This record gives sequence, structure tokens and C-alpha cells, in this order.
Amino acid sequence: MPCTVLVGGFFGDEGKGKLISYIALKDDPKIIARGGVGPNAGHTVEHEGKKFFLRMVPSGFINTNSRLLIGPGVALTPDIFLKEVELTKTYGRIGIDRNCAIIEDKHINLEENSEHLSKKIGSTKSGVGACNADRALRKVKYAHEISDLSKYIVDVSQEINIALENEERVLLEGTQGTYLSLYHGTYPFCTSKDVCASAICSDVGVGPTKIDDVIVVFKAYVTRVGSGTLEGELPHQEAKKRGWIEYGTVTGRERRVAPFNFDLAKTAVILNGATQLAITKIDVVFPDCKGSENFEELSEEAKNFIHEVESKIKVPVTLIGTGPSALDIVDRR
Ligand code: GTP
Ligand code: MG
Repeated sequence: MPCTVLVGGFFGDEGKGKLISYIALKDDPKIIARGGVGPNAGHTVEHEGKKFFLRMVPSGFINTNSRLLIGPGVALTPDIFLKEVELTKTYGRIGIDRNCAIIEDKHINLEENSEHLSKKIGSTKSGVGACNADRALRKVKYAHEISDLSKYIVDVSQEINIALENEERVLLEGTQGTYLSLYHGTYPFCTSKDVCASAICSDVGVGPTKIDDVIVVFKAYVTRVGSGTLEGELPHQEAKKRGWIEYGTVTGRERRVAPFNFDLAKTAVILNGATQLAITKIDVVFPDCKGSENFEELSEEAKNFIHEVESKIKVPVTLIGTGPSALDIVDRR
């Protein structure tokens, strides 16, 4: 903090939702703003026995003092947004930028009917890619044109930059992951925008000199939904034996699984300019770490893994996820 941006270092689903909710509770940011692609991302937040799946509302919503914003770079589906505002009871403290692009049924239909997207690329078919294509062609609708959204419309960049001028804390949430970036990822098996840290800043209208920390989140193993290369991919049976099987938040598809990849992690750190790393699901790989909040309490194997990451990647691992709830974290910041 004061201005921290958090992004995924692999293929999305690194557990950003949980990390953001932890930082939101712990650091009490004045503003939590979501950049990234749109409702093709799913974030899971678990807190006080409740579990939320979010595709539009910022994952930091569990801090009820924070102002929540969605930046103009984000594509927005009004129905999903309005339902989530109700679910999270965030009415009155959430705003969306007037220039968010609007996903319409025609965008979803186009993706559903596209063999290229649904069969080859393995798209989530949320309509985001088609919406961004229309946006590039300058024919998409913007949020300020939708009457159901009128009470949420704000100037996100202005709000954030005023907060930063007043030395307030701001947390910027990324979506997807580095290797799903349109520019730096595994094209064509990727999303429809760049999703690295600098893109998230651009999505919400914050200049690069205003960022104090970039936290890149990795999971203790690698998962990927949809098509594209996954080095070291484990057969289903092996993934199951290790307890690493997961299902997608948006699509429900079983995720493909591989062990932690140091080469991918190193490059992700460079692409994002990471100042800190977070590693989630250490307890899934080393079950005796479950629920731990203290580094010294972790098993030798888990500590060795963290030390190996730090020595190979040369960025400190400051946050370690040890369970599904927002507060199941070892915080070494
Ligand atoms: P992002 O898309 O990066 O926000 O991640 P996600 O929320 O989609 O990640 P995923 O769907 O893989 O996470 C789903 C579940 O993993 C949620 O129930 C989280 O609470 C849980 N989770 C996150 N971090 C940890 C962790 O460190 N340990 C364990 N056991 N579960 C975690
Ligand atoms: Mg996800």
C-alpha cells in the first residue's frame, strides 16, 4: 500500500479472490477497484462461513468500509452486476465507470455459435471477447447509456487519483492470469485483453508512477481451464491422487493440472514488475500446513518450497495461503 495492484501469475484461478479479501480486511483500503476483463473471470471469497462466487463485484467487498469501483477497461454484464450487488449488499458503496463496455446478448450468442471460440479456444462464452471486439470497432454501448445502471455511474479514475493524492490506501484487483494475456500469454489460447499489472492500472485509470506494490499470486501448483499448452500436465488419475482436482468457477469445467512451474513464475514476475509474491493452496500440497498463520509453524517441506521460490525467483513471498477462508494466511509483509 498506499497503491497496490494484485494480479495472477499463471492461468487465472490462483486464488486472487481470497488474497484480495484478506488484504481488504487487513489493510482497510479506502478504495478497492476492479480492473481486468469482465464476467469471464470468477473469484471465490470465503469469510465467516459464507462463500461467494463473484464475476463483477470486487472481491474486497467483505470490508464494509471500502468503496468499491469497477474501472472503464472492464466489460460489464448489467444483469450479473445487479444480482451481485444484491447478493453482496454493496448498494450505496459501489460505483462503475461511465465508460465500462456493456456485454449484450448478441455478444454471448456470437461466442456460443462460434466453433473457433467454443471448440478450439475453449472460451467461457461470457460474451466478453465479442464485446471487446465491438469496442475496438467503436460500436459497443457504454455503461452511461444503460438506464438500469444510472445510479452507479461514477468517474473511477478521478475517485482513485483523489484518494491517492490524499494518501489513502487503494487496492487494485486484476483478473485472469499472466499467461491468459492477449499480448504476453499463450495466443490464441488466451483472453481478449492484456491482464498484466500495467493493464490493470490502465483499466482503472491509474498511472504507473502511482503504484507502490505489485503482488503476483501463484498457486502452489498450476491449473488451466480451456485449451492451450500446459507444461508438465498431470494425467487425471495422478492429479486426483494428489488432491489437486478443481472445477472452474464460471464454467464448472474440470481444470487441467501441473506442478508449480518456476520458469513461468520467473517470466510472470518480470512481465508484471512484481515486488511481492503470494502463494496460495500450500495446504493442498502440504496438508499439515492447514490453517497455519505463522511461517515457523509450516512443515519443513513447505518452508523449503517457499525458500526455493524465493531463491530462484528473487522476490519475497510475503503472503502464503493455508486454507480457503480469507484469514487462512501467513502474512510476512
Ligand atoms: P481467482 O480467479 O484467482 O480469484 O481464484 P479463484 O477464486 O477462482 O480460485 P479457485 O476457484 O481456484 O479458488 C477456489 C477455492 O479455493 C475457494 O473456495 C477459495 O476459498 C479456495 N482457496 C483459495 N486460497 C486457498 C488456500 O490457500 N488454501 C485452500 N485450501 N483453499 C484456498
Ligand atoms: Mg477464478
